[in-house]
Amino acid sequence: MDHTRPKFYHLTIEERLKLIGTTAPLDEADLAALGGVEGLTPALADHMIENVIGVFGLPLGIAQNFLINGREVQVPMVIEEPSVVAGASFMARLARSGGGFTAQASAPEMIGQMQVLGVPDPPAARAALLEHKLELLEEAASFDPVLRRLGGGPRDLEVRFIETSPTGPFLVVHLIYDVRDAMGANAVNTAVERLSPRVEALTGGRVLLRILSNLADRRLAKAGCTILLDELAFDDFSAEEVRDGIINAWAFAAADPYRAATHNKGIMNGVDAVVMATGNDWRAVEAGAHAYAARSGHYTSLSAWEKDASGNLVGTLEMPMAVGIVGGATQVHPAARAALKLMEITHAAQLAEIVVAVGLAQNLAALRALATEGIQRGHMTLHARQVAAAAGAQGEMLERLADRLVADKTIRIDRAKEILQEWSKP
Ligand code: MEV
Repeated sequence: MDHTRPKFYHLTIEERLKLIGTTAPLDEADLAALGGVEGLTPALADHMIENVIGVFGLPLGIAQNFLINGREVQVPMVIEEPSVVAGASFMARLARSGGGFTAQASAPEMIGQMQVLGVPDPPAARAALLEHKLELLEEAASFDPVLRRLGGGPRDLEVRFIETSPTGPFLVVHLIYDVRDAMGANAVNTAVERLSPRVEALTGGRVLLRILSNLADRRLAKAGCTILLDELAFDDFSAEEVRDGIINAWAFAAADPYRAATHNKGIMNGVDAVVMATGNDWRAVEAGAHAYAARSGHYTSLSAWEKDASGNLVGTLEMPMAVGIVGGATQVHPAARAALKLMEITHAAQLAEIVVAVGLAQNLAALRALATEGIQRGHMTLHARQVAAAAGAQGEMLERLADRLVADKTIRIDRAKEILQEWSKP
């Protein structure tokens, strides 16, 4: 299949579904789930949360043109905001000339925290914990034989001393836990809860909190892309102008937390949309992202943009990425399951790589627009297409009408109908 085919958005919903059905290993049930015909029913939802009265729909779009680590990927995105799917698809197209996106995910190591209060002798407690580290890790490994068989389980134990807090000092024990293809919250929470009595016995303290940390800074995903300089020019903007504008826009976010919050929000437009489409916990990913952005003590940009020796634009994004492909909604939600099949994902690391590549593409889309024509024009085009469709235009006519409405700077349904009438006169 030619993934550079730019006309996916010209197709009808049925045609788009049919097309993805021919290019990915999806069966009828998957297509019905993705198409919203079947999918999550109230009965299924009733098993997921409490007090269910129904299900709530959101748009699901497929971002096009993504080449990630040399592999074509059709990316499902769940999001209510216009321009996001189009922006990602367009930037993915620009990135292809530079080889697409490269992406890597680190080992799926999560951190489980135990807060130990009332430790009589913190240095001695730390020494005792470290002395018995192997024993503790072995005990923790015995809690989840399935994960152990899959090659996961506890990897390390760290002891931290928090000297000042509003209620005084305490000890914190980190259990580093390889969760393989799971998001990992259940496995980690179980492990720290069950290990706590041993920690209490060794420290003489009382374990209060036993919970996963969402600052998953040992489970990082990183994406990079090179946009060839020639790809950047458009309208009256020279390639150098666009490139330098993007780099200056990034510098603003790197230096100023007020801008960094918005810059990172743009990244999360892409990240969350894929995380949601696959039934993952986007609040966990959000929390990890922003905590990681502030890890130096100064909240800053998650991405970086620079030029290489040939003058091309080079972007990178690194962030925690606690996403899984087993357990929870990833398996229960029929559309989430189908979304994983659509991307032909077999390991959680692959999903993390795709998510972070989409985040980088989304960031580029926002910066390119902001540093040139502003973001409203893109929104106007989409808005004009919605108005053109509402006026009854279809296919080529819809595009022509939308272009005309934007050119006239009058995006109103009455005007759209008038133009259609003018065009239909012999
Ligand atoms: C809007 O959803 C996202 C942007 O504000 C991101 C940015 O400013 O970089 C356009």
